[in-house]
Amino acid sequence: MSLAFPVPVRPVIQPPPMVEEVLGDDERAELKARIKRLMKEQDAVLVAHYYTSADLQDLAEETGGCVSDSLEMARFGHAHPGKTLIVAGVKFMGETAKILNPEKRVIMPDLGAECSLDLACPADEFAAFCDAHPDRLSVVYANTSAAVKARADWVVTSGIAAKIVKYLHQQGHKLLWAPDRHLGDYVQRISGADMLLWQGSCVVHEAFKAEALKKLRAEHPNAAVLVHPESPEAVIALADVVGSTTQLIEAVRTLPNPEFIVATDNGIFHKMHAAAPGKILLEAPTAGEGATCQSCAHCPWMAMNGLRKLAAVLENGGNEIHIEESIRVRARLSIQKMLDFAAAEKAGQIQLGD
Ligand code: 13P
Ligand code: SF4
Repeated sequence: MSLAFPVPVRPVIQPPPMVEEVLGDDERAELKARIKRLMKEQDAVLVAHYYTSADLQDLAEETGGCVSDSLEMARFGHAHPGKTLIVAGVKFMGETAKILNPEKRVIMPDLGAECSLDLACPADEFAAFCDAHPDRLSVVYANTSAAVKARADWVVTSGIAAKIVKYLHQQGHKLLWAPDRHLGDYVQRISGADMLLWQGSCVVHEAFKAEALKKLRAEHPNAAVLVHPESPEAVIALADVVGSTTQLIEAVRTLPNPEFIVATDNGIFHKMHAAAPGKILLEAPTAGEGATCQSCAHCPWMAMNGLRKLAAVLENGGNEIHIEESIRVRARLSIQKMLDFAAAEKAGQIQLGD
């Protein structure tokens, strides 16, 4: 699709070096006990993304929190009565929690946990994109700043993007999409909507390689290929299932295949193993022709979360998310549309044709 508005070619976002927390058994046990005590004292609940460490995922479940995709993280944090929400994930997830829960204290183990999609979509440039196309509704992926959400008409996550875009297309709307060009392209292909696409990408998913994946699939004929839609088109074309992180875990649990090749962050394997013990999980290749493999199927920003940092933030304070109120109120409207749509869709109140 040719663009009337020249969407600037996005500078390549350089991921930070991968620094993962390594803990011995004694330190892990001591940190977990300390964090649990502090969480109780501060009426806190932990909401963790599937890409965070196994330690954080286990802790979230042991303390009555949740481990989920970004849509469910938003829903869970909103519904939970705890006064403090700890978001283990990346910054846009903490901001979403604060947008929905202004009265709560929202903290994160590391406020420097960014996302290449969020970084690729500065609010002023996005506003200029919208201004150039007043005839189009703007739909942004949840992986954006509060200021971009505030300017957008709708926010979507990967779990619900296709349904919402299909719905808007059926209502006769033309759309602007930001920031993930691969997810936007995928949603455009399956919905048939008229969409102008921002040119951001995820440093993790963009690294998956179709040719190497074909070879791996040929070596494992009984494997189903599971792909997150932030991956390039040629990788998505090889998928048996395309979906959000939760949808991919569900596929491992329910499909009869004994093996799975998984094209998403390998942090998800912790939950997949728990959901389907005994099934074999293989990482989709990030090596092969043209590979630079800087993030190698693991998000370096997600890896910034860890038990040591979480204990420190609960002990010393800080790392709290603050959002300017006028931005928060507007961002809330576009997120709330998504949550209302999800609820209506679940209740069978929205019919989407083919
Ligand atoms: P999900 O909404 O599928 O959890 O994806 C969030 C994300 O950042 C994937 O890279
Ligand atoms: Fe962003 Fe990609 Fe990391 Fe998800 S995996 S948080 S899209 S950089």
